[in-house]
Amino acid sequence: MIPTVRLPSGEEVSALGQGTWYMGERRDRRRAEADALRLGLDLGLTLIDTAEMYADGGAEEVVAEAIAGRRDEAFVVSKVYPHNASRSGVPAACARSLKRLRTDRIDLYLLHWRGSHPLEETVAAFEALQRAGKIRHWGVSNFDTDDMEELAEIAGGAACTTDQVLYNPGNRGIEFDLLPWCADRGIPLMAYSPFGHDPARLLRSRALTAVAARHGVTPAQVAIAWSLRSGRVISIPKASSPDHVRDNAAAASVQLTPEDLAEIDAAHPPPARKQSLAML
Ligand SMILES: NC(=O)c1ccc[n+]([C@@H]2O[C@H](COP(=O)([O-])OP(=O)(O)OC[C@H]3O[C@@H](n4cnc5c(N)ncnc54)[C@H](OP(=O)(O)O)[C@@H]3O)[C@@H](O)[C@H]2O)c1
Repeated sequence: MIPTVRLPSGEEVSALGQGTWYMGERRDRRRAEADALRLGLDLGLTLIDTAEMYADGGAEEVVAEAIAGRRDEAFVVSKVYPHNASRSGVPAACARSLKRLRTDRIDLYLLHWRGSHPLEETVAAFEALQRAGKIRHWGVSNFDTDDMEELAEIAGGAACTTDQVLYNPGNRGIEFDLLPWCADRGIPLMAYSPFGHDPARLLRSRALTAVAARHGVTPAQVAIAWSLRSGRVISIPKASSPDHVRDNAAAASVQLTPEDLAEIDAAHPPPARKQSLAML
């Protein structure tokens, strides 16, 4: 059973989703990548995260292949480049994404990171797409607390559905202010790169390895269970190998104990002061 997270609209989505960065880069890998995403859907990892940036739209095409014939099972998240985030650029980018995704709507459309177009324009464009039924929800990515505060002040800005940010045991800065700020407003965070900048390093960390051994699971499963522990975070590991997809889905049933969390805290301490938002 995959847990769910409640969006501000009241809709429940799978707390454990699937990333797609680096999918679609190679034509000869696309079928295997779509198969991996489909296996994830079978296992309840129904939220799929992609972006116009990934493989220049190639990842969206892989998602299209994965969701073909089962669109209603999936909750599709895509992202617009900051340089496309103007009043006219957003609908044009969205139309291109919808075409690549071979669908009539994106469930959640995010501004990939903050750029130079005024947020007012981007939000107005998102609202127009919502009215037209092209997107169901909108949100942001790589926004720090001050960006979220600014967003909340502008007309319609409080309707932001999520902020997708880097979050894993090695990057916990958001716990100081962004995570509580969002929790106070009922906005779930979406954690990207749950295995860190350098998965080979984080997944070999002594704490994660020790906790994994106690539970008879893998360090990757511990990292995922850790990211899901608050019930307010959606985690989107990317896996193109079927074994990794199975491993990740099973991580939803790993229950970390206070002793496990203390051991992870000792090796990867929570922030004691404000840290600026890290991003990949
Ligand atoms: N908004 C943003 O700016 C932003 C930035 C970065 C990422 N993202 C999103 O977040 C998603 C996840 O982040 P990410 O792709 O950077 O990194 P990640 O999910 O932390 O790590 C992906 C790597 O871990 C491997 N892996 C997957 N499951 C595993 C397991 N159970 N055991 C061991 N290794 C495993 C994958 O291998 P295989 O593929 O070979 O299975 C891949 O090499 C992205 O795909 C993207 O959708 C968003």
